Amino acid sequence: VGAGVGAGANELLSAPGGISAPSVAGASGIVDFFGGHQAGIATPTQECLQFAALDFVSESPEDLRAVLRAWSSAAALLSRGEPVGPLQTGDGAPVDTGESVGLGPSSVTVTFGFGRSLFAKPSLNLSAACPEPLVKLPAFTGDALNPEICDGDLGIQVCADDPQVAFHAVHDLVRLASPAAVPRWALSGFGRTANSKSQETPRNLMGFKDGTENIMVEDEGALDRFVWAVAPSSPAWMSGGSYMVLRRIMILFGVWDSTGLDDQERTFGRHKLSGAPLTGTAERDALDLTARSGGELVIPANAHVRLASPDYNAGQRILRRGYSFLDGVDQTTAAPSGGLMFICFQHDPRGQFIPIQRRLSENDALSRHTQHVGSAVFACPPGASPGGFVGEGLFG
Ligand code: HEM
Repeated sequence: VGAGVGAGANELLSAPGGISAPSVAGASGIVDFFGGHQAGIATPTQECLQFAALDFVSESPEDLRAVLRAWSSAAALLSRGEPVGPLQTGDGAPVDTGESVGLGPSSVTVTFGFGRSLFAKPSLNLSAACPEPLVKLPAFTGDALNPEICDGDLGIQVCADDPQVAFHAVHDLVRLASPAAVPRWALSGFGRTANSKSQETPRNLMGFKDGTENIMVEDEGALDRFVWAVAPSSPAWMSGGSYMVLRRIMILFGVWDSTGLDDQERTFGRHKLSGAPLTGTAERDALDLTARSGGELVIPANAHVRLASPDYNAGQRILRRGYSFLDGVDQTTAAPSGGLMFICFQHDPRGQFIPIQRRLSENDALSRHTQHVGSAVFACPPGASPGGFVGEGLFG
C-alpha cells in the first residue's frame, strides 16, 4: 500500500489555478527547467547550493511517479520565480512556504537524480532499469565515511544566486514528496567552483582558485565527450542525462593554516594568489608536467593538479560543480569545521571519478589536509519537455 504523496503535490497537480503570488516570468535570471538536458549541469555554477538526499519510503511505483511529476511541475514554476502552490490558504497551511516571494528566479535550477538503492527496492520493480554506470563506489584510501550523510534513493541539487531562493526550492520540494519520501541528509553550500568562460575563478576555503582547468559549460565538444550519458553504456532512458558524484570533504584547517606557503603551493602545483601553475605566471598558462629545476619536478610528483590532470588519467575529464560549506568549529583544533562539497558530473564514473579519485586518495599531497566523510552517486536523467517530467523514461 502506498504511503501517498503529500497534499501539497496533489493540490498542485489538481488546482494550478490556485496560485496567487505575482509571477516574475520574463524577468532576467530565468534558467529554463525544460530542455534536452536537466538544468544545473551545463549551467554556469550559481552562487549557492542546497542539496537534499531522500529515502523513498513508499512501496508504490505510482507514488514514485506522482512525486516525480509533482517535482517537475514545481521545479518549472520555481525556475520562473513562481510559488509551487497556493500562498493564501486561510485556515489551511500554505502549500508554498512563502520565503522566496519577491526574490525573483535568481537563476535557480533543480537537478533530480536517482540513487542505486532506489533500483534495489523489490516493490518498485525497477532493478532491470538500473544503469550500469550507477555503481557503488569502492572504498578509497583514507575514507572516513559516515553512513548517515551518504547515499539516498533520490537526490535534489538546487543551485541559485540567492541563498533563500535555493533554500525555498529544496524546502518545498521535500514537502511535496512527503510522506512518500523523507529527507536523509542535506547540505547548503556557497563559494562555487568555476565552470564557465563568463566567470572569474573564485577561491576555495584553502585560498586557491578553483575551477581553472574545469570543463567549461560553453565547450559542447567536451560535454558530449565527457558528461552526457550515451548508449550502450547507459540505457535509453538515461541518454542525455549524466551521473553525479558527491563527496563531502572536510578540510583540516588546523594543519593547513600552519603550513608554509611554498608547501601549500606544492600541494596543489599552482601559485596561491595568481592561480598560475608553478611552471607559469598567469592563471590560464598550461601546466608543464615535465619541467624540472635542479633535477626536481617543478610541479611535484604528488601535486593535486598533476594527479588529477587528464595526462595522468587516460585523457579523462569531469565537470566539477562543487561548493564550500561550513559547519561550526572543530573542537579538537579550535579551527573552523568545513570543507568542499565536491560535486562532479560525467557519463560514466567507472572510467572517470573512480580512477581519478583512486589515484588522488593514494598519492595526492592534498590528502594530508582533507578527509572524505560523505559520499553519494545519482543517475540524473535527461531533461523533460513541458507536460512531461524528469524520470518519465523509467516508466516505459
Ligand atoms: C577538498 C578537496 C579539493 C580541493 C580543495 C580541490 C582544489 C583544486 C584546485 C585548487 C585545483 C586547481 C585549479 C583548477 O584547475 O580547478 C583543482 C584541480 C582539479 N581537481 Fe581538485 N580539489 C579537491 C578535490 C578533488 C577531487 C576529490 C577530485 C576528483 C576525484 C578533484 C579533481 C580535480 C581535477 C580533475 C582538477 C583539474 C586538474 C587539471 O586538469 O589541471 N579534486 N582542484
